Amino acid sequence: DTVRYEAESATLSAGGTIDSNHVGFSGTGFANATNAAGSYVEWTVNAAAAGQATLEFGYANGTTAARPVDIAVNGTVVASGVTFPGTGAWTTWSAVSRTANLVAGSNTIRVTATTADGPANLDYLDVTLP
Ligand code: GCU
Repeated sequence: DTVRYEAESATLSAGGTIDSNHVGFSGTGFANATNAAGSYVEWTVNAAAAGQATLEFGYANGTTAARPVDIAVNGTVVASGVTFPGTGAWTTWSAVSRTANLVAGSNTIRVTATTADGPANLDYLDVTLP
């Protein structure tokens, strides 16, 4: 089944904010991490059993430049340079998915910007486990 983890319950690197000024998001807001390489959003998610999960990140990117990130699970990068393409407007939301192996119990999922633009605005992480 799929469990949604809202960005407003995630941890942001210094300077990041939970904003609500661009409509269409899930929950009460979205994560606006700073425009800097290394800025991140980290969720803590629970897995009932170890196995491969689908991670779906809801996001908006109102620029024309993709915003790449590295995705780390429990401190290890499992996907590098994952692009979050422009969505046309900050109020237009889309999603990017990747699979990753989780351990049973608590897992950290961290999305870290690899360019000076920082990450896209991130709305949620949906975790689907078999
Ligand atoms: C704009 C937009 C922000 C966004 C930022 C960015 O300021 O309003 O929501 O985070 O651009 O470039 O990341």
